[in-house]
Amino acid sequence: MAILKVDNLNKTYSPKSIPVKNVSLTVKDQEFLTLLGPSGCGKSTMLRMIAGLEMPTRGRIWVGDRDVTPLRPGDRNMAMVFQSYALYPHMNVRANISASLRLRKLPESDVNQRLRDVSAKLGLDSLLDRKPSQLSGGQRQRVALARALVRRPEVFLLDEPLSNLDALLREQVRAELKQIFERQSAPVVYVTHDQTEAMTLSTQVAVLYDGTVQQLAAPSEIYHRPANRFVAGFVGSPQMNLLTLMCEGNFACLGAYKIPLPEPIARSPQAIPQTIVLGIRPEDVAVVEPASDRAIAEGHCFLIENLGTAKLLSLSIPHGDRDRLTLRALVPHDLPLPSDQISLHLPSDRLHWFDSQTGDRLG
Ligand SMILES: Nc1ncnc2c1ncn2[C@@H]1O[C@H](COP(=O)(O)OP(=O)(O)OP(=O)(O)O)[C@@H](O)[C@H]1O
Ligand SMILES: [Mg+2]
Repeated sequence: MAILKVDNLNKTYSPKSIPVKNVSLTVKDQEFLTLLGPSGCGKSTMLRMIAGLEMPTRGRIWVGDRDVTPLRPGDRNMAMVFQSYALYPHMNVRANISASLRLRKLPESDVNQRLRDVSAKLGLDSLLDRKPSQLSGGQRQRVALARALVRRPEVFLLDEPLSNLDALLREQVRAELKQIFERQSAPVVYVTHDQTEAMTLSTQVAVLYDGTVQQLAAPSEIYHRPANRFVAGFVGSPQMNLLTLMCEGNFACLGAYKIPLPEPIARSPQAIPQTIVLGIRPEDVAVVEPASDRAIAEGHCFLIENLGTAKLLSLSIPHGDRDRLTLRALVPHDLPLPSDQISLHLPSDRLHWFDSQTGDRLG
């Protein structure tokens, strides 16, 4: 049983470069936490501090009741998998996988037993005598994983392990990863900027931006109740529509249409802001009959992108005298569109509201 605790971790390179700002996280046994965020937000710095490859400026790292902050990487009992695989090029697969066990002077019979277990689990039996240069990218990544698993560490750390693979292989190895980590219990911290990986693999996702945690929650919560405008726009593909609208009384104005503000905002008139950000995912925008009384907006469709099972419509909506807003709608690929003038319904239970100043979720 291990619990990884990161307590108020900070990394400051200079007053202008503070990639990690007071982050606290807990990852328990059987939990798979993903650090998700755009390039440069501090994901690798965070992971490297946990691994001991980088000293934090402030904060502590605990494994169970052991403060590992002062320990060298080799003394932390954590295994890290890098994007670059970092295999020994002169050693065959067998030697690559067992190197760390031999270093720890494990009895030969134990080394062989663990090697057999892990190579069977990862389908590496027929590759054990090959050198890394004789393997494909996916096979190399599996060897890198095997090398981490064979150590049976207390904590697994993975930094973008799939990003060197092509799209098809990434999908396949992602599914393999899920199965492998579901079968073992040590806490996993996984770094990626790929939201599909984060959503499919994790039990918890921490969305990072500019060195701070924007939201820490289960993947479905992140998707269905994003805590702020950044998370709303970062998670989900195609991206959530985010429209800045003027407020009038208890309504937000979308062109000629008025959309009721949600209860908690409407209830306190003095708190109604001048502008508000309305979010709706493209798959939640419904196309309705032109005269339908459900229509709450009307748009001119200027682009149709065919995505296979669905098509993505880009619609231009009149808004004010000169302004137009763009809204995207994801509809079934075979939905008939008799005209490029399209009526839309925005279901009230699918709307997200954000403060236009702070970006925080409202309601
Ligand atoms: N040694 C260093 N000195 C100064 N700044 C650094 C140093 N290492 C990293 N940084 C800065 O810290 C920030 C975070 O870097 P980090 O590698 O953690 O980002 P990341 O989220 O892993 O990005 P990516 O997705 O591109 O890998 C970046 O702005 C980077 O330029
Ligand atoms: Mg990185």
